[in-house]
Amino acid sequence: MRDVLDQHCFRYSADAEPQLMCEEVALSTLAKEFGTPLYVYSKRQMIENFRSFDSTLKASGKEHYVSYAVKANSNIELLRVLAEEGSGADVVSAGELLVALAAGFPPEKITFDGTGKTDPEIELALKAAIHAFNVESLEELEVINNIAERLGLRAKVSIRVNPDVDAKSHPYISTGLKENKFGIDMHDAREAFVYASQHPALEVVGIHVHIGSQITSLDPFIKAARSTVKFVNSLRVKTGIVLEHLNFGGGQGIHYRNVVQHPMLPPDEYGDEGEYVPSLSEFVGAVLPILDQTGLKIIFEPGRAIVANACALLASVLYTKSNSLKNFVITDTGMTELIRPCLYEAYHQVAPLTLRAGDLMRKVDIVGPICETSDFLAQEREMPALKRGDQMAVLCAGAYGYTLASNYNLRPRAAEVLVDGDRYWIIRQREIIEDVAGLVDADRLRLKSLVG
Ligand SMILES: Cc1ncc(COP(=O)(O)O)c(C=O)c1O
Repeated sequence: MRDVLDQHCFRYSADAEPQLMCEEVALSTLAKEFGTPLYVYSKRQMIENFRSFDSTLKASGKEHYVSYAVKANSNIELLRVLAEEGSGADVVSAGELLVALAAGFPPEKITFDGTGKTDPEIELALKAAIHAFNVESLEELEVINNIAERLGLRAKVSIRVNPDVDAKSHPYISTGLKENKFGIDMHDAREAFVYASQHPALEVVGIHVHIGSQITSLDPFIKAARSTVKFVNSLRVKTGIVLEHLNFGGGQGIHYRNVVQHPMLPPDEYGDEGEYVPSLSEFVGAVLPILDQTGLKIIFEPGRAIVANACALLASVLYTKSNSLKNFVITDTGMTELIRPCLYEAYHQVAPLTLRAGDLMRKVDIVGPICETSDFLAQEREMPALKRGDQMAVLCAGAYGYTLASNYNLRPRAAEVLVDGDRYWIIRQREIIEDVAGLVDADRLRLKSLVG
């Protein structure tokens, strides 16, 4: 995705003490006004990411579309922006479905994924007349059929197949292997399509495949595309079932390293070209000609590629300490705000909000305040010296950042701010402890009398 990052909206100003900016706004201004931890999004970056995906597909001249994976980031203000751009929405829960509808996504562009849809969720999606359910088991087909029959409706279904392809991503975000819980084994999938076509309240409209996330080589995508196309063609010949669409899922990897660069920052160990991630045009150029052999409408469901690099998570240094082995920088931000480093050993670039000439470089572990050893944002990272009160940005935090945040240690979730040029506004308030802790009025009154 370097083609998108070339116009990256987070960059340092040309001041003597360079300031990290989001579009035209200094991040230090936002940290001062709203406090940290703080999620900051660039509207322009998100729109550019969506448009480059969409226009690359449109350039193929066929009827294809992008359906944003809401699980990556479900803030309704961000969803509104994508709905206005013409994106579809891929949802995995009643919550995501309701917020996508409220944000203005047309129901006919909403797909519903997930291995464990509940009966009320299925009923809700049927009543909303969504485009299709991406179905993951024979039993789920049966349940959807029965609920649709009871409601006097017909459910459009797309069957998720598992192509047994190794996405070569982190094991926890690989979904296309036999040992993963997702989809129906390719060998059993024909039976599932026939089974679905025999149910009166089901209309079989598509096939769905999604092999994982943060995939940084083309090979797994090509393998999955080839086996899906082979399957679709043999399904048509052997059963006469003709589909309308092929949903190829998401998973496109992005650059997490060297996102912002400055001579006063230490060089990344990988170097500028070291972290190979196929560009969007390489990805589309490799898979679309294969998928197009089916003649079906192709849907892509990117999440990360749309929102990840459009966001920085701001943190402040609380304390520093060293021992004979390590230098620790303890911040007010940790796994409760961004669990990806702890959960997936994910790398995020961390950059100071202000660069000062002459600051010495130091190898540090940047950790959070949570009572877990795995609570770190970066380990063994060369950084300009940081002291209490300094602030930093954890870059590319827009996907699977806020949506995976938690209240562990009874910490309120952070606020979120959207930047558009030189304007900015809160798109989600910081939570307050009284709400997070579920305090009733009597508790609040008692606390007031104790601490004011
Ligand atoms: C079915 C499905 N589609 C799309 C996505 C989005 O993936 P990504 O954010 O890697 O593009 C996911 C994420 O896990 C998914 O499970």
